[in-house]
Amino acid sequence: MNCAFSISSLFLIQLLVIFHCVQSANDIVQDTCKKIAANDPELNIDFCVKSLGSDPESHKVDLEGLGLIGVKLLQANYTGTIEYIKQLQKQKLEPSLLKALSFCLDVYTSGERKDLIPLYKAKRYGEVNIYVTIMMNKEAACDAQGSEKGGTVPPLTKSNADVYQLSIIVLDIMNIV
Ligand SMILES: *[C@@H]1O[C@H](CO)[C@@H](O)[C@H](O)[C@H]1NC(C)=O
Repeated sequence: MNCAFSISSLFLIQLLVIFHCVQSANDIVQDTCKKIAANDPELNIDFCVKSLGSDPESHKVDLEGLGLIGVKLLQANYTGTIEYIKQLQKQKLEPSLLKALSFCLDVYTSGERKDLIPLYKAKRYGEVNIYVTIMMNKEAACDAQGSEKGGTVPPLTKSNADVYQLSIIVLDIMNIV
């Protein structure tokens, strides 16, 4: 047996293992989600890693860039939820559910909606914070109508929860950026 060879290959394997550990420890998505989840019990860390990680750029950007990805996801999700409500309204549903959906559409589309991407890029985090908080409040109003607890408009439970999670991700990242 060639000892020199097995020692050097063992060494190589060790190096690879170490390199892999360092690399995953340095992953910005994982790190950031862990960091913000530690201070925010409502943040779902799996959702955070999955949603931010879904952007192919997310592993190359810095914290600020990650926040921008969050803003983009939140806006897409918010608009997507409005479109989804409109689709649901075309279906034959219980009158009470249709009423709830129409309430949700009203709140989701009410007031001024602003493109937050340029605001975020200009580092106007205070303003972004205000608009994101408004989006969150709308989501909460839709989600909890007629009840203290959320999830009362069943077809929207997931969309509302996604909007909520993306909102807190953006707010939490802006807090540490
Ligand atoms: C909202 O975001 C989540 C997580 O990124 C994703 O799974 C979902 O498809 C998005 N929904 C819309 C309507 O964009």
